[in-house]
Amino acid sequence: MQELRVCPGEHFGPPQLPGLHASTGILRTVVRELLSVFIQDFIFSPTDAVLPGNEKSPLLTLNEYIKVPATVRGIAKMSGFESFAEDVWIIDGPPVRDSGVTFTTRMTVVKLSDGSLWVDSPVSLPFDMLERITGLGAVRYLIAATPRHVWRLDEWHTLFPGAELWVPRPTPFTLKKGSFPVTGILGDIPGSGWSDDIDQCAFRGNPLIEEIFFFHKKSHTVILDDLIQVHPLVKGSPFRNALIRMAGVAEPHGGVPLDIRLSFINRNAARKSLEKLLSWDFDRLIIAHGDCIGQDAKQFVEKAFHWLNR
Ligand SMILES: [Fe+2]
Repeated sequence: MQELRVCPGEHFGPPQLPGLHASTGILRTVVRELLSVFIQDFIFSPTDAVLPGNEKSPLLTLNEYIKVPATVRGIAKMSGFESFAEDVWIIDGPPVRDSGVTFTTRMTVVKLSDGSLWVDSPVSLPFDMLERITGLGAVRYLIAATPRHVWRLDEWHTLFPGAELWVPRPTPFTLKKGSFPVTGILGDIPGSGWSDDIDQCAFRGNPLIEEIFFFHKKSHTVILDDLIQVHPLVKGSPFRNALIRMAGVAEPHGGVPLDIRLSFINRNAARKSLEKLLSWDFDRLIIAHGDCIGQDAKQFVEKAFHWLNR
């Protein structure tokens, strides 16, 4: 088992606030935080949630909500540490806040054929969770599938300094570049260390955000970070819920957030990327923000990207 460079009881990971996505500069940070605090504290009440698709369901806190079993929600169960498919685990991190909106967070761990671990979008975790991960195998690859998740790799690299760090092509939205030693830039060709188990492709057509999507062959699972999101509706926050609906990411179906949709300038390139995604033989879907899909995921993805074929 790998040695952990963190003390038992310590909560390892990046700060949960000020938000999910780091900033480009001090001024932007100050402005965003002022807006975030104002919106969070005076307009939104994002700690309560209601079960998806059932207005008569009991009201739950967000932390309770993410623990609701699959039999109730009708979708893949979300919990602190879950075996999602063969050799695939998902681990939920603490909710984070970005611009007044609370996001659930999730990382994905894949055990490769050589026994090492491939980790996408690592989140802040307590020591016992880290021990469970290292009990699965040696953490060899740390992945950020979207520029918005790059900042987490820095902290994880201090914990697993021998792991390779892979990030997407830098864009203006690669907000915090950090000084950690990047092994390589992710593109359409999977890394040689994981290509036997995982295929990958860059979702092109967007000059601001180029997210990499992955396909775990053995479990027929697609792994996305931000491209598709599913957010719960919150009791007593009609303005927030209206924004969630307007962004097209409300439960139960979710979708591609409006800001990401609008920033796809080259629709032809995006359609080619979608064709590649849909060419894979998958029926499960892991996303970083929202409920994962345990079956018939291809239909879910097709519906999420229906705007691209208009
Ligand atoms: Fe994200």
